[in-house]
Amino acid sequence: MTDLSRITRDVALASSVLDNGGIIGMPTETVYGLAALARNERAVARVFTTKGRPTSHPLIVHLSPEEKIEQWGVFNESAIAIATAAWPGPITLLVPRTSIVPDWVTGGRDTVAIRIPSHLMAIDLLSKVSDAIVAPSANRFGHVSPTRAEHVLHDLGDDVDLILDGGPCEIGLESTIVDCTSEALQILRPGKITAVRIAEITGLTLANTDGPSRAPGMMISHYAPRAHVELCTSLDEARVKGTALKEKGIAYTIIHHDDLTKYALSVYDDLRAADVNQVTVVLAVLPVDDGLGIAIRDRLSKAAAH
Ligand code: TXA
Ligand code: MG
Repeated sequence: MTDLSRITRDVALASSVLDNGGIIGMPTETVYGLAALARNERAVARVFTTKGRPTSHPLIVHLSPEEKIEQWGVFNESAIAIATAAWPGPITLLVPRTSIVPDWVTGGRDTVAIRIPSHLMAIDLLSKVSDAIVAPSANRFGHVSPTRAEHVLHDLGDDVDLILDGGPCEIGLESTIVDCTSEALQILRPGKITAVRIAEITGLTLANTDGPSRAPGMMISHYAPRAHVELCTSLDEARVKGTALKEKGIAYTIIHHDDLTKYALSVYDDLRAADVNQVTVVLAVLPVDDGLGIAIRDRLSKAAAH
């Protein structure tokens, strides 16, 4: 677990490990990914087993900015508008797939999730490797996503061949996922790029995101630490609950930031720290339901779900 030799900043080495069928932890601007070559069936199978993720939960295909995106998916007018405005960047587009996208990436679906990340080391890696990369978040299924190379080492240890260290992630929450498979766009997972921004880019009103999600693995408990997460609507409420817990001798911590950028950056770190510090209850203060706050609320609510 403390084998730091597994961590490197050598992009050429990381690229050759992938080209030889290996799996690696890779940085992106959102969270660290567990990368494999998309069209290497055995490597992708290892990604699923390493994460402990059901193969019915499809993976995001990560492309280099130089790649011809139409080779991988069918982009309608809105998808092209979003791709042009927001790539490279923290947004994933769900589009109908082309025939080069393997079933083992999409779980046999006729759609594919595609993203061009903006992290410079990720772009460097994507332009060096021989093919597209799949990269789910580099955590065990259902657990807290990693935002630093050390998190990947801690979670996956010997199960990855290498971890490419690109420093702490700039955003700290996964990409926004937008379903562009029909004219009515739908946000499947909120992120830094908000529905309001997507509406601005496309000139369309987005479909309501209430109701069952069209992305598998979205509605269940997720992003969860071992500690019990309890949602609070204000810092005052968290403090009152904290005092009551303390009286009962229950170890707790409060997570909260007024600044949404800081909150997004630290929320997974704070959830992990709760486990490291063997805290029993995390009192998580919900931020405003606006901007980046929407994504933070989404992750906290799932971390609190049983
Ligand atoms: O920011 C991110 O998107 C990170 C970094 C590493 O790029 N990746 C990430 O991947 O969060 P993952 O696998 O943890 O989450 C991807 C989500 C999954 O919930 C999956 O079900 C959904 O995207 N998804 C992928 N392909 C899909 C498809 N064809 N149809 C519906 N949902 C899909
Ligand atoms: Mg994930």
